[in-house]
Amino acid sequence: MPAPGAGTQSQSTVLSPQAPAEARVFFALWPDAAVRDALDRLAGALHRLRGGRRTRAETLHLTLVFVGNLLRERLPALQAAAAGIQAPAFTLTLDRTDCCPHNRIAHATASQTPAALLDLVAALEQGLDGLGIPFDHRPYKAHVTLLRKADCRRANPPIAPIDWHAREFVLVESALNADGARYAIQGRYPLVSTAQR
Ligand code: 2AM
Repeated sequence: MPAPGAGTQSQSTVLSPQAPAEARVFFALWPDAAVRDALDRLAGALHRLRGGRRTRAETLHLTLVFVGNLLRERLPALQAAAAGIQAPAFTLTLDRTDCCPHNRIAHATASQTPAALLDLVAALEQGLDGLGIPFDHRPYKAHVTLLRKADCRRANPPIAPIDWHAREFVLVESALNADGARYAIQGRYPLVSTAQR
């Protein structure tokens, strides 16, 4: 699986003297090359319809729980809680797109959300609660942001469904800069395939 920020630092944070005391983090599913390419092609087709700014292919992802700013010293506890989650692998089928006129974001989403995905989100939220770490509690809607500043006036087009076989989830640190967000994976956690259970 291609990793955001893959290479020199993957599982652990290497602190530079300037590293801020807080990290902006979230849990996500990160696509493999085939799913990323399919999402990127979909973003291209949607861009021709709606204009706006495409999500860079290497940053396409599906957020599970957005934590936000967290003291770096709390990251090991968060990583340990994530590593303790035993959740099954599942397939998410992204079979439609949506466009929100109020924030002008167009995204890929699913007509059916697998129970295993909702259970994984609930397990992460429970882990965060257990650690007393606050997070964004908005009701969960599985989506992959494809366009910003999109023109939502035209109807959502039918799309070829994208089957996303989720085999792991990741903890991601997001650093905001002038070009948008730069992501670095701070932990990878396998989902258990049914054959292994
Ligand atoms: P989005 O795709 O709907 O923009 C990193 O910012 C990821 O966390 C994005 O995928 C973003 O979702 C998601 N996210 C969820 N809640 C957020 C919040 N309150 N602030 C910023 N990002 C949030």
